[in-house]
Amino acid sequence: QFKIKFVPILCNFGLLLKKIIKFLNLGSINYYYSNFLFIFKNATDFIFENLEQLWKVFFVFDLKGKIKMAGREKGLIQRIKNKTIKKMAQDLLPVSRHEKEIIRTVAKNQVVLIVGATGSGKTTQVPQFMLELKREQVGKSTQVICTQPRQVAATSVAERVAKEMNCSLGSTVGYQIRFERKASDNTELMYVTEGILVRWILSPEHANFKGFSIVIVDEAHERTVNTDILMALLKKRIQMSKDSNNKDMPFFRAVIMSATMDKNRFQSYFPGNPDVVDIPGRVYPVARNFLSEPVQDYVKTAAEIAYGIHSSLGNESGDILIFLTGSQEIDDCIRHIDDLKRGSQSPRELLAIKFHSHIANAKQDVFRKALSSQRKCVVATNIAETSLTIDGIVYVIDCGMSKQKLYDEAKHVDALEIRPISKASVKQRVGRAGRTKPGMSFHLYPLKNYEMLENENQPEILRVSMIYETLCMLALGIENPLEFDYIDPPSETTVARAVNMLFHLKAIDDKGKLTKEGKHLTDFPLDPRLSKALLAASKYGVVNEVLSIAAMLEIHEKLSGRSDSKDNNSDDDDNNGDDDNDNDGNGYGRRYKKGPSQNRPKNPMKIYKHCDGDHLTLLNIFNAYKHKHFQESGYYRDPNVGHLERADKIRGRLEFALLRILPEIKTSDQCDYKSRHYYPNILKALLSGYFLNVATYGYADKYWTFRLASLNDKHKVVEFLDRAKPHRSSVFGGNKVQRRPWVFFHEVVVQQTVFLRILSAIQPKWLLEVAPDYFNVEQLARDKSSVASILRDLRNASS
Ligand code: CDP
Ligand code: MG
Repeated sequence: QFKIKFVPILCNFGLLLKKIIKFLNLGSINYYYSNFLFIFKNATDFIFENLEQLWKVFFVFDLKGKIKMAGREKGLIQRIKNKTIKKMAQDLLPVSRHEKEIIRTVAKNQVVLIVGATGSGKTTQVPQFMLELKREQVGKSTQVICTQPRQVAATSVAERVAKEMNCSLGSTVGYQIRFERKASDNTELMYVTEGILVRWILSPEHANFKGFSIVIVDEAHERTVNTDILMALLKKRIQMSKDSNNKDMPFFRAVIMSATMDKNRFQSYFPGNPDVVDIPGRVYPVARNFLSEPVQDYVKTAAEIAYGIHSSLGNESGDILIFLTGSQEIDDCIRHIDDLKRGSQSPRELLAIKFHSHIANAKQDVFRKALSSQRKCVVATNIAETSLTIDGIVYVIDCGMSKQKLYDEAKHVDALEIRPISKASVKQRVGRAGRTKPGMSFHLYPLKNYEMLENENQPEILRVSMIYETLCMLALGIENPLEFDYIDPPSETTVARAVNMLFHLKAIDDKGKLTKEGKHLTDFPLDPRLSKALLAASKYGVVNEVLSIAAMLEIHEKLSGRSDSKDNNSDDDDNNGDDDNDNDGNGYGRRYKKGPSQNRPKNPMKIYKHCDGDHLTLLNIFNAYKHKHFQESGYYRDPNVGHLERADKIRGRLEFALLRILPEIKTSDQCDYKSRHYYPNILKALLSGYFLNVATYGYADKYWTFRLASLNDKHKVVEFLDRAKPHRSSVFGGNKVQRRPWVFFHEVVVQQTVFLRILSAIQPKWLLEVAPDYFNVEQLARDKSSVASILRDLRNASS
């Protein structure tokens, strides 16, 4: 576990080990071997890996090999040798060998591209170099910003860098992600998500990157929408410096960091062909294996292969990394692994660890080194593809898929779809196995399928609806969103549709100018539709409720409790017996069922189910938490409590933002919860934002989603989009799908079937109330297309 590159002492190494054995009174050295850390006085050229591991024992030797100090605690060693350790840790990383070159290049050029293999130290080291450069150039007053596409990456890297710099997180080094900030006035290096930086640039304080001296856009190859927006904003900023001949513009640099993928694309985008620093990585060969035939259930196959590797390795070291698409698959896979483990004897324990963006607290487990009696098997989403490097991986299992955002132009819906990844992504995944020694990869699909994959990932900007982004452009004062200088501009139809939708949401007027309401919508760190619902809530006297629901929507996916059911794959579990009487169409009166008192996590969506759907169920869960029902019923150790605490915090922030934007709003103006208008009012407020996401029950447990498309000013056509099933996480989903004539939904998820996630029952006449201009019955009546039933419903409702 440690490598010695150069031994600057004059004594026999074997002799040292003997001394140690004697010192420790150990019979055999094998057990402790992997956990030794040797530090030789005055020696800085030692290389050892995995600094983060738990050292059981350490020694400090003098030059003659005499033990100077020994201890059992990591903290102590850090105190003694802090500087040396930091230096050594950094010397390990390929990026560190290019420190001078990187600093020199950025000092000279306005835009610099740093391209290097994943794990070479870009994210953790380059921002520290930039901090040095910035201090040299402008002193302490401004900040260095480093963006990340993912929240987990921003927080965990900030934590890591603070440790490397020997400061507490939130002092010199800080981070900010949505709803969470750790920083102070002294913070000079900030890790933030891309979305946060875009929002900052929208605000007057940071217009044109004011207050920032160096902006590092990391993981640029991911090409998220926000990456592309930031590129365009940076290009504009750089152009400004050029135009004013650098005289009155303050020092500003843009650094784009990317895995070895599309450097040409970025290079040709910025003016003057920016300099590139190439960081050669250390890579070992990885042998690729493909299946001969496609498999039905890749989750199960992944578990079997992982277990197979584990058993055949016996006592040999080497950790496993499995790529799947989402938390549900990850849970299923870990269950399969646990089943396989049960019947067998192996010299090591196979330790399955889940790793996806919702596992904020468990991330330490992922980075921690396995004990010598264990083998780590990390089951991850593509978060482990480039964002975060886990050391010690030798075997990679790749399902060939990932969850991708997708905008269906024909159907104009944003959806999350499980789709094949690109060859570039496969290459990244494979690369994770060859970091420390030659590795192996197992692909759960045949080679011929691999050959059919796209070469590169398509930039996300070509795959999303652009509604929020277009709103941001308008808020930035860009009058024609089509003129914005994107690397890959979205299609005109997409932008036109986005503008159209913003018009329906009344965020812009008929001249395309941002309205006051539209400005408000950009002030919330939320989807504009949810912001719109919040604004509408005050009209219905349900501000408190909608705030709670908005906060719960943030954590909804993380709510667990599925562990109580044996088989999650067969659509659903214990939904059969007792809730028939809920299906009565109004359901006022009952607030929530009290859960049974067991310590096992129960699915709160079932315990606190509201018969009118998921939104009100989420509200029930939140209220139950606030009224301490979780504690009373013995749920205080329920894993959901942590998430609910977070929801509570988010709610506080949203309330704060709402009161700042609309000080006249009275959260105390309450609709009485006993009133029969109480629940309808909450749903109407939500529907005011989501009236474009409506579906009506069809047949065979499927709902039809539809849209009204304007052909011209006079005519509207009802277009059916999809036949979709309520997702199994919904209170309407499961074995017995609930058939409500009309629902609105939060989002569409496309898997083998199309699913609606988070839905609630509505009455059609509410549509006419919340969006009278859009659901213009007169216009609809003139429409010749035969969508009789919808029209009838709507017309009956209006009469
Ligand atoms: O950005 P890039 O992929 O080039 O590398 P990095 O993220 O800076 O990672 C450099 C090293 O730091 C890797 O060996 C990681 O395993 C390690 N690291 C860690 O142990 N804990 C973190 N929270 C982040 C990085
Ligand atoms: Mg990185």
